Amino acid sequence: WHNVYQSYSTAGQYTFEFDGDEEFYVDLQKKETIWRLPEFSTFSGFDPQGGLREVATAKHNQDVLIKCSNCIVAVSEVPEVTVFPKSHVELGQPNTLICAMNNIFPPVVNITWLSNGHPVTEGVSETSFLSKNDHSFLKISYLTFLASADDIYDCRVEHWGLDEPLLKHWEPEVPTPMSELTETVVCALGLAVGLVGIVVGTVFIIQGLRPGGGSRHQGPL
Ligand SMILES: *[C@@H]1O[C@H](CO)[C@@H](O)[C@H](O)[C@H]1NC(C)=O
Repeated sequence: WHNVYQSYSTAGQYTFEFDGDEEFYVDLQKKETIWRLPEFSTFSGFDPQGGLREVATAKHNQDVLIKCSNCIVAVSEVPEVTVFPKSHVELGQPNTLICAMNNIFPPVVNITWLSNGHPVTEGVSETSFLSKNDHSFLKISYLTFLASADDIYDCRVEHWGLDEPLLKHWEPEVPTPMSELTETVVCALGLAVGLVGIVVGTVFIIQGLRPGGGSRHQGPL
């Protein structure tokens, strides 16, 4: 388990991870255990009070540390952001865009999905801050969308390690009419070469059989 508390926005986080994947987190306001996938809750349970206690302890420890050290200031890292689709993009088919943010520290970030420059709120979900071995965090935001040639997307990330919001752009690769024509020509040429091969091969087989067939006729004579 990982338990994070920080004074900004008085938000702590209590998450349980397995092999780098999030199993659940405890919603500290609602005092509820939120499973990453609803199915998980049928296999096991977790008392959110346990998470609340841990975060309260962390808050207490942080208060003590801040008093001792006259305020520790965390140095902000520059997050790395990549955007990619979950599965092969086919126009007109629903898909999911993934915005993966690596090297997040401190774990405070604003993520906004933009479609054609406008913020999107529907079909958006995100993981908690997933801890990494180097004390930075990983966070993933998802956007379900219908692939269309006219729509472009951006994952906008605001973080103290960035001078200005970082926009990671993504748009579907639409095949141009020219490349489609090229593909057709290449396909037709390939087919033609194949057909010529079959014809030439057949002719050779027939010619090869003729002398053999002739000698069999001559044999008994
Ligand atoms: C996130 O957005 C809020 C509201 O616009 C803003 O006050 C805050 O500074 C932003 N956080 C970061 C890390 O940029």
